[in-house]
Amino acid sequence: MSVVVRPVRPEDARGALEVHHAAVRITAASDYPAEVVENWAQMPITEKAVAGFNANPEGELRFVADLHGKIVGFAAIVARKDELRACYVAPSVARQGVGRALVKQIEQAARERGLKELHLHSSVTAHAFYTAMGYETLGSGEHVLGSGLGMRCVFMRKTL
Ligand SMILES: CC(C)(COP(=O)(O)OP(=O)(O)OC[C@H]1O[C@@H](n2cnc3c(N)ncnc32)[C@H](O)[C@@H]1OP(=O)(O)O)[C@@H](O)C(=O)NCCC(=O)NCCS
Repeated sequence: MSVVVRPVRPEDARGALEVHHAAVRITAASDYPAEVVENWAQMPITEKAVAGFNANPEGELRFVADLHGKIVGFAAIVARKDELRACYVAPSVARQGVGRALVKQIEQAARERGLKELHLHSSVTAHAFYTAMGYETLGSGEHVLGSGLGMRCVFMRKTL
């Protein structure tokens, strides 16, 4: 599969949000209550949501996986917090190495910015994936979504 991982562009916003929503609503849905899924990936994807994504208030450093012009993956770090913030892959291309390619790229970008480690709140769904990517499990707990609703998560970290 000829996926290219590249920095996000403003015109990728809707595609990245669509990947995020499909990954949550299809791949992660069986691991969480419906209320969490609804809050984590609110539908529909409005123009306001697209503009909010592009406003990028947290200063996320973002990459997308581009398959012949279609966005099939999205990942982000918040460098000032040493945080891996997001990694989502379209269910249609799951388990084909897209997540691995995205994490490799964001780790490289983190190293280039002088980061020595990354930590994250992993979904329960992605725990095995991040473990395979070399992340260490610190414990389990709760991640608070933008809406204020809590969801189960696993705290993880990796030395870069
Ligand atoms: C987690 C996620 C990004 C993985 O993306 P992916 O492209 O399917 O992952 P990859 O194909 O790169 O997997 C790399 C390795 O991780 C491990 N892995 C990935 N998914 C796994 C799963 N469901 N169960 C066990 N191991 C898994 C495997 O070792 C895999 O290598 P292999 O396929 O050669 O065995 C994707 O499943 C996803 O979007 N999940 C839902 C959203 C989510 O919870 N994101 C994380 C938010 S913190």
